[in-house]
Amino acid sequence: MTRIALVTDQESLPIDYDMAPLVASCESLGLPVEIVNWDNPGIDWSRFELLILRSPWTYTDRLEEFLDWCRKVSSVSRLVNPLNAVEWNLNKSYLVDLQHYGVPIVPTEFIQKNASDVLSQIYSFIATHGNFREMVIKPSIGAYSKNVQRFPVDAVDRAVEHVVLLHSLGCDALIQPYFDSIDVYGESDLIFFNGKFSHAIRKGALLMADGTVNAPTAEFRKQREPGPDEIQVATAALSAAIRHLQLEEPLLYARVDLIRSHEGQPVVLEMEISEPSLSLPFCPGSEVRFAKAIAAAVERLQCFT
Ligand SMILES: Nc1ncnc2c1ncn2[C@@H]1O[C@H](COP(=O)(O)OP(=O)(O)O)[C@@H](O)[C@H]1O
Ligand SMILES: [Mg+2]
Repeated sequence: MTRIALVTDQESLPIDYDMAPLVASCESLGLPVEIVNWDNPGIDWSRFELLILRSPWTYTDRLEEFLDWCRKVSSVSRLVNPLNAVEWNLNKSYLVDLQHYGVPIVPTEFIQKNASDVLSQIYSFIATHGNFREMVIKPSIGAYSKNVQRFPVDAVDRAVEHVVLLHSLGCDALIQPYFDSIDVYGESDLIFFNGKFSHAIRKGALLMADGTVNAPTAEFRKQREPGPDEIQVATAALSAAIRHLQLEEPLLYARVDLIRSHEGQPVVLEMEISEPSLSLPFCPGSEVRFAKAIAAAVERLQCFT
């Protein structure tokens, strides 16, 4: 029998909405799943045939330790999504790769840790991309809106301070225009299982004008029917990831987050193929589709053994 670990950690499990419905639907399909903490040193990982990353979200403060863990377990079991997908996806620099494949992304400039000219990089970004009143500064590695901040374009000094803070935390910084369509339309998060579209949610804007930053808790999420243009961009992002990573199998799970540009075009804000929250409780039936996708992955695995 294929034993399956659903990987989380003690601190993240209580905020992982997906785990309970996922476990229930896996069990109803007869899939033997077990919830395990990635940082539990007492686990023999080789006793699982599949290790599915679900909510190991404390990794953001322990990145090297987490990546070492991913490499170690990949040598004794099958990590899903695979190691190269996780390594690539943990740093928002993947956005640049997507853009190289022709996928529309939120205009983004990286301000590297060792940059000596932060102020002029910000001014030049504003001059190049013009036509926006506010900007967003965020860490290259991060989740849960942590350290993401919105600033008016005339508050460059505060933006510089935030970049310096991110650098002091060991991260590169990203600068983007604030796309205010999000205040009305929200962002669209599209979820795929084994490469097939499953469901989508509308996530409300998280960066408030007064500087408050909300965590993406349940009240910000609602099921949404995505537009055909959103499906098309999200599918293009997924195909680009598959080509870039040279994957021979579909990704078990993927989430592509889109916002609409000032011109109304959907653009990729984030693509999450490492450990995405999947909003299962907000879209009835999605938990069954995920469990069925896991069952299909198990079957594929058995073909190879
Ligand atoms: N360029 C942007 N324009 C408008 N809102 C943004 C922008 N970038 C981030 N946000 C808001 O901040 C939230 C968190 O940013 P995101 O890039 O998704 O980082 P994280 O990896 O922390 O989820 C988004 O869900 C969105 O509400
Ligand atoms: Mg996000």
